[in-house]
Amino acid sequence: LLGALLVLLLVYLVFSSSFSSQKEGNEPPGPRPLPVLGNLLQLDLKRPYLTLLKLSKKYGSVFTVYLGPQKVVVLAGYKTVKEALVNHAEEFGDRGELQIVKDFNKGHGVLWSNGDSWKEMRRFALTNLRDFGMGKKASEDKIIEECEYLIEVFKKFKGKAFDTTQPINYAVSNIICSIVYGSRFEYDDPEFTSLVDRTNKNIQLVGSPSVQLYNMFPWIGKWVAVKKEVEAIGAANKKQNLQLFSRLKETLNPQMCRGFVDAFLVRKQNVEVSGIANSQFHDHNLLHTVLHLFAAGTDTTATTLRWGLLLMAKNPKIQDQVQEELSREIGSRQVQVEDRKNLPFIDAVIHETQRLANIVPMALPHKTSQDITFQGHFIKKGTTVYPLLTSVLYDESEWERPHSFYPAHFLDKDGKFVKRDAFMPFSAGRRICLGESLARMELFIFFTTLLQHFRFTPPPGVSEDELDLTPRLGFTLNPSPHKLCAVSCM
Ligand code: HEM
Repeated sequence: LLGALLVLLLVYLVFSSSFSSQKEGNEPPGPRPLPVLGNLLQLDLKRPYLTLLKLSKKYGSVFTVYLGPQKVVVLAGYKTVKEALVNHAEEFGDRGELQIVKDFNKGHGVLWSNGDSWKEMRRFALTNLRDFGMGKKASEDKIIEECEYLIEVFKKFKGKAFDTTQPINYAVSNIICSIVYGSRFEYDDPEFTSLVDRTNKNIQLVGSPSVQLYNMFPWIGKWVAVKKEVEAIGAANKKQNLQLFSRLKETLNPQMCRGFVDAFLVRKQNVEVSGIANSQFHDHNLLHTVLHLFAAGTDTTATTLRWGLLLMAKNPKIQDQVQEELSREIGSRQVQVEDRKNLPFIDAVIHETQRLANIVPMALPHKTSQDITFQGHFIKKGTTVYPLLTSVLYDESEWERPHSFYPAHFLDKDGKFVKRDAFMPFSAGRRICLGESLARMELFIFFTTLLQHFRFTPPPGVSEDELDLTPRLGFTLNPSPHKLCAVSCM
């Protein structure tokens, strides 16, 4: 026992001296960390972003927190997050790491990579999303076509209460499938449903408290069952994608690329023919970029859409105004992207949904690419940085009613739509969401088309007040499990 106590004392002395020396000088302040555990005991692992928000009130807009032994600098509030990510885009623009994704990604793809590989994959993904999806009439048509399938599914429930999760996940995933693989899938195709269901499950598991503990203390890995589950899902998605790629390779026509995968394969072939050394167009980057587009591009948009419908059911008067604007400006014809300018109230409702839903509360971890003195604080190269998007979207000095659903945040006194700089659900700067334009187009067309066809209400016997807006735990903030009635109104 004495020996154990001595070891503990030694560990404490070593760690406390190293922590205190790290805090010397003008490094960002923060709560005093314990040896080994850091600030773990102060952290609500179910909702870490709320703890960080609370700490920002005490320690200011740039502060340090220790997630176990890992030092993290947190940026809070609109002005600070903008100054860091936009005015110091280069210094704050590297991607930080999470142990759970590190082993699987090995620096490939677009979400979790850095340096030349990231630059090349991001540029290529943006160009091809533009060609096969965003910014083109083709993608608008794909979304409109997908709305028809989704409406059919909703109609089958004949106004009875149902869980909107799966149909919305399938519809939104099909947009990415069309862009990435070049075709959509039927909602009962097991190859498709298993890919979508597994991806969504993994996104939730990655945010679980046990995975967060594993990220802090990787040596506990062999005892963390969820980690094994995440790995098994990752391996199954990888296998399924490799099968899809080999089918696409068999029918590849370089003159007529069907989607992102075709374009990548053609580029890879060209690079090989011309003998370019150290090309980033290799199989690992193909696989991981596709997995990243799929993961980042489905759960996020689908979750936001589900928040939108839930908020409509909870706020029937706002739903009335949405439907009035739709019948006045559009009637029964299909809504197009260019109608947005004539639908300021709906535009405001969608923006306010994204603001309040706050689905990626801590963005993704960033990392400093060089030493920097920021707002008087010294931050060392390679430090993990969390831009706390919650603190921007709920910033009390920017929003009149930060914690309420208040579409007027985005309207002027004449009811015209106004842009707000502190609207940052897609983050900002070098790592800003790559799919922002596609997501905005999807949200607008899916939301308006569904609201044209259906009135959303709570299940019989449940009042609007009883609809719960507490988010479910996970990497992204989903609504808690609930059912809604979609009553046909067209
Ligand atoms: C990154 C939000 C939809 C692809 C991000 C980030 C956020 C975000 C907060 C992290 C930015 C940072 O690190 O500072 C959202 C929201 C969406 C959405 C709220 C929908 C409502 C999409 C879609 C796609 C996509 C549809 C794909 C087509 C990506 C990618 C990244 C990313 C690839 C990583 C960018 C990089 O590291 O360079 N997104 N996203 N997202 N998003 Fe989205």
